Amino acid sequence: MSFASSVEPKHHPDCCMAISQPLLHNLANLLPHGPAISVLSIGSGTGLLESLLSDLLDNSYDVCGVEVSPNVNKYLPEQNMFFVGGTWDLCSQAGRSHVWIFTYPREPKLIKQYLELHDHVNLSKIIWLGPKMDWQDYEGVFSSSRLSRLTTLKDCGAAAYEMIVVAEPEP
Ligand SMILES: C[S@@+](CC[C@H](N)C(=O)[O-])C[C@H]1O[C@@H](n2cnc3c(N)ncnc32)[C@H](O)[C@@H]1O
Repeated sequence: MSFASSVEPKHHPDCCMAISQPLLHNLANLLPHGPAISVLSIGSGTGLLESLLSDLLDNSYDVCGVEVSPNVNKYLPEQNMFFVGGTWDLCSQAGRSHVWIFTYPREPKLIKQYLELHDHVNLSKIIWLGPKMDWQDYEGVFSSSRLSRLTTLKDCGAAAYEMIVVAEPEP
């Protein structure tokens, strides 16, 4: 891969979120441990962030992406991609994944629908990455769901105007 992550967050045309080494390491450290952890990035775009994350993980993790069009993905292996019929459509793989990632999702409604239809007992975390100014539109979707314990990561390697929030079930 031609992208070398830096200590400071850096933009790449293939990812909405600025990427840094600390950001990738923080994401990796958030993932649960287990023999077969399935991570699903919903709206993965080119898959750059997901591919860099996957490079940090051992083979007990399976990082997959979901997209609308097969033409968008550039970095994730073909077998790690799922496709849906349109922006309104949901991917049933979510019902088997332990972690969902949403990076710069386009609208809260998609997450709400995933939570209504595909939340399941083994889903332990949802990781939201995006602009701080967008979070207010998403917070209510999580706080009214089973995964209502919300943690905003501090010093997480994101750009000053971006943030990472982790949604988990209440203990
Ligand atoms: C703003 S882009 C973010 C892409 C990528 N996560 C990034 O940060 O660069 C939102 C992406 O969500 C995808 N998308 C929209 N609706 C979707 C759906 N129902 N299922 C999967 N992907 C969807 C779009 O095709 C688009 O690539």
